[in-house]
Amino acid sequence: MTFQEQQAAERAQDHVDGARLQAAIAELAAFGGRADGGVSREALTDVDLAARRHLIARARALGCEVSTDDCANLFFRRAGTADLPPVLTGSHADTQPVGGKLDGAYGVLAGLEVIAALNDAGIRTPRPIEVVAWTNEEGSRFGPGAMGSSAFVDPACLPAYRDAVDGAGVRFGDALDAALAASPDVPRRPMRQPMSACVELHIEQGPVLERAAVPLGVVGGIQSVRWYRVTCAGTMGHAGTTPMRERSDAMATAVDIAQQLYAFAATESGAAAGTELRLTLGRWQVSPNSVNTIPGKVEFTVDARCVDEAVLERFEARLGEIAARQHRGSVGFACFFRRPPTLFPPAMLSLVGRACERASARAGLAAPLQLTSGAFHDAMYLAGHCPTAMIFVPSKGGISHNAAEDTAPHDLFLGAQALAYTVAALAHQ
Ligand code: GLV
Ligand code: MN
Ligand code: MN
Repeated sequence: MTFQEQQAAERAQDHVDGARLQAAIAELAAFGGRADGGVSREALTDVDLAARRHLIARARALGCEVSTDDCANLFFRRAGTADLPPVLTGSHADTQPVGGKLDGAYGVLAGLEVIAALNDAGIRTPRPIEVVAWTNEEGSRFGPGAMGSSAFVDPACLPAYRDAVDGAGVRFGDALDAALAASPDVPRRPMRQPMSACVELHIEQGPVLERAAVPLGVVGGIQSVRWYRVTCAGTMGHAGTTPMRERSDAMATAVDIAQQLYAFAATESGAAAGTELRLTLGRWQVSPNSVNTIPGKVEFTVDARCVDEAVLERFEARLGEIAARQHRGSVGFACFFRRPPTLFPPAMLSLVGRACERASARAGLAAPLQLTSGAFHDAMYLAGHCPTAMIFVPSKGGISHNAAEDTAPHDLFLGAQALAYTVAALAHQ
């Protein structure tokens, strides 16, 4: 790093304003805010569209130019002094059905705080800086997750995404068109724009940093993920009159499969070696969903994650075996999201490491540690597009995808400081 780069990075870091960041988090959390302190702001709902308008106004007030693309990703651009590919930061503003105020929102708002800090410090950067709010990272309303970032790097994904439907039968494509129409003042730009580098700041959403009493984490990579839809067929019938041995009960089949999958996860459990298979059967749809009718159809989702791709290969083989051999004809499954492990490049890890070390040392706190992300993030797609990295801050109790998700304000401040250093350094390269 040149002396000039380092000076700009340090001054940017020292101009981050923790109180301003905290206020910005509280303001955005009001969109979809819940009485229990959580946030319900699923992708492209009315409340998400209102939150987007709020972000657009905030970015314009900081002097940013705002643009969007065919997947309604929002880009807030601070001009550089040269016409070079920008440095990208940001995250997502959508939440789980019951989420917290930090998952995603923190990365977007900390990105805007970096721009405010650069403005306050009077720093001009050679490269432009763009803060992005990716569309539909969560994947809870429309599957798969990380739609906006994956379509950005590979626009060929978008036509299939447009056909995804939510639980109420709304097409993603129609919700997208409505979102774009709701911001006619925001110019459209092409997808897949060149970026010089990308860094995403996020809460950890797990217990590692808190247990180690370390305020900042350098993310070495992201574990593999696969999502499946399992469909079990049966025959509807009367709950009171149909003898047990004469039933074809789709729920009995689904429960049997679920038990076998949990048992498989237990045998594969490499918790000690850090290769645990993490399994979640999160969404169930029962038809006709009546107390006194034998279920004729049950569909459930499977979220399987592991740092070791070979474990997920064995898991998929086991699921195939159960469906094809034990429940031939009555069970089908389809994978609708898969992503192998992501590894961030060493040069980015060392820059993020320096940024985190300076922020934590000046606060008199423990040096950063390197960890693997258990959650997926938009950065996993950007990693295939430009040099990419992530920074984590601790999550209280390791809790996330829950209204109780929280992080100490001082940790949020240190994370934004580390981001400011990293972005300012990259914008000088
Ligand atoms: C992201 O929300 C994930 O499920 O990892
Ligand atoms: Mn997130
Ligand atoms: Mn999430």
